[in-house]
Amino acid sequence: MKKFSVKLIYTSIRKTIGKGSHYLHEPSFSSNEIQNIKDTLKTKFVSSAGIYGEKFEQKIQKYTKSKHAIAVINGTQGLYISMKALGVKKNQEVLVPALTFVGSVNAITYTGAEPHFVDSNIKDLGIDCNKLEKYLKKISKIKNNKCINKKTKRIISCIMPVHIFGHSCDIKNIAKIAKKFRLKVIEDTAEALGSFYKNKHLGTFGDVGCISFNGNKIITTGGGGVVLTNNSKLAKKIKHLSNTAKLKHKWEYIHDDVGFNFRMPSLNAALGLAQLTKIKIFLNAKRKLFHKYSNNFNSIPGVQIFKEGKNLRSNYWLQTLILEKKYKNVKDSLINYCYNRKIFVRPAWKLISSLRPYRQKQKMNLSGAKDIADRVINLPSSQSLLIKK
Ligand SMILES: Cc1ncc(COP(=O)(O)O)c(C=O)c1O
Repeated sequence: MKKFSVKLIYTSIRKTIGKGSHYLHEPSFSSNEIQNIKDTLKTKFVSSAGIYGEKFEQKIQKYTKSKHAIAVINGTQGLYISMKALGVKKNQEVLVPALTFVGSVNAITYTGAEPHFVDSNIKDLGIDCNKLEKYLKKISKIKNNKCINKKTKRIISCIMPVHIFGHSCDIKNIAKIAKKFRLKVIEDTAEALGSFYKNKHLGTFGDVGCISFNGNKIITTGGGGVVLTNNSKLAKKIKHLSNTAKLKHKWEYIHDDVGFNFRMPSLNAALGLAQLTKIKIFLNAKRKLFHKYSNNFNSIPGVQIFKEGKNLRSNYWLQTLILEKKYKNVKDSLINYCYNRKIFVRPAWKLISSLRPYRQKQKMNLSGAKDIADRVINLPSSQSLLIKK
């Protein structure tokens, strides 16, 4: 058996991805994208009035088998407008894992509601269901069909499970707990286009699901997102609100609410349409990359490459290395060693509950999330690493 060392881990990463500089995730483009963008420019309808927005929505809807898909300017605003449409407001609380990207939590804050942090587990990197259920039993009561935080007296109206790095959290169980405690479910699916739980696309289990098409995601629209929902009334509301709440009329400007300019521009949707035609190729490349990393790390002690769970199909958006607990102190020196050799690996996020704007918010014991953050390093994961040129 080989002996654990930073150099050995670095060498195994190098062996997997080859020479040169490597970033965490780079997009892959070809002539399709250029053609679609040229076509949009020719139409002159580059903003939300163009034809590509709706086309893109239809394709996403078909791919995810969601009843509705509403394309928006980014994942964060998708989450925000979804909560707005669900009626989330000031003096409510929304449960969210402390281990997530800050955008999930900011979106809650924009509504005026308070984020309330819950713990995660290393098994699937998502919300720890056992801990969650016990915690809710202890801290809340149901009154008038609403979940009330006994300490703050606020309504806990929603839960926002997050599918971390493209891997499904225990969404079925979370949905069950949500039902029991009268919580709406906003699935943060930002990282999980192409990921499934028992053949059902992630983002279609909750009241809404939001996908991101930021430049670092599996497909990109430059910046953008899409809201998925099977609730027709909600879909109509989200579309209306994201389009300045404008009523249909040939020339009059009539707005019946304080709406938002959140529609995805046609130029971005055109890029997304071209990207979407290659989703299978991208997913295959990512799966191959996962196997390559796994093989190269097989004989290295003290580390493991994160693997999708049973009945789940991950998009393997990011490849994740997990250090054994006894090696967690090596994390920063390993990152530094790789950075100095132009491999730009990254840790998981800092727990959002530890960031200045969120330190005073409600939270449960977050030992699971802390343990993950202490031991996770994400490795270069671009699909282009394994797509034959
Ligand atoms: C987990 C998570 N939630 C929300 C977002 C926000 O998406 P966007 O960057 O499109 O606003 C991202 C990604 O960037 C994310 O990774």
